[in-house]
Amino acid sequence: MHLTLRVWRQAGPDKPGRFEEYDLPDVSPDMSFLEMFDVLNERLIGEGREPVTFDHDCREGICGSCSMMINGRAHGPELGTATCQLHMRKFADGDHITVEPWRAAAFPLIRDLSVDRSAFDRIVEAGGYITAPTGSAPDANLIPVPKDVADTAMDAAACIGCGACVAACPNGAAQLFTAAKVNHLNLLPQGQAERWQRTIDMVETMEQYFGSCTNHGECEQACPKEISIDFIALMNRDYVKAQLKQRRLAGQAFP
Ligand code: SF4
Ligand code: FES
Repeated sequence: MHLTLRVWRQAGPDKPGRFEEYDLPDVSPDMSFLEMFDVLNERLIGEGREPVTFDHDCREGICGSCSMMINGRAHGPELGTATCQLHMRKFADGDHITVEPWRAAAFPLIRDLSVDRSAFDRIVEAGGYITAPTGSAPDANLIPVPKDVADTAMDAAACIGCGACVAACPNGAAQLFTAAKVNHLNLLPQGQAERWQRTIDMVETMEQYFGSCTNHGECEQACPKEISIDFIALMNRDYVKAQLKQRRLAGQAFP
């Protein structure tokens, strides 16, 4: 395949950015999108030029590192697919492909296609711990969990923290990510002890960094793990209940 790449190049957060165009005359349709970048970078290094900085780790859709806006879509044209699992056969010979970093105020640019997503870490840190016995693993059937509850919690736990939901949202909101992280614990019996405080802490930390949700639904479309926006409704429900629960407990403490 003969492709032309337009790639965002920026040497640092305070440096000016611009698109650079690269002609790639010999791309295999079986390459992944990141392997195509490997080929480009080998060429740039061979020519004594700066390779393109991009994040990657697992290259199998697990770690959430490979954040790229491809032709204006987070992770590119394939639904439910992270950039590392996107293959060049999904493009046509002769295509021009524009690649940009995630653009969101909460994800400041580090260099080229790499952004700082540590605001996500602040939300997860705010969630704290769960109370669970330490020691050897308990018997799997000790705490019965209905199958549909376990399945739903597992769907939420599929979030890989890539940030595509934020990058796709016109408000730069992180509701889908936070809802996934809140609900994979809140739905399970093991997550009940800290449920209400965890919900308040994670939601309010999210609001310090990210915009507000206005139900566009772009996050769900962009998510490589197809996390449902229903989880946002569940999180909002828990947040309201947590506030009421806090007031009731406060009322008991100070009658
Ligand atoms: S909810 Fe989806 S798009 Fe958002 S961080 Fe998790 S996996 Fe990525
Ligand atoms: S490199 Fe790990 S999800 Fe893409």
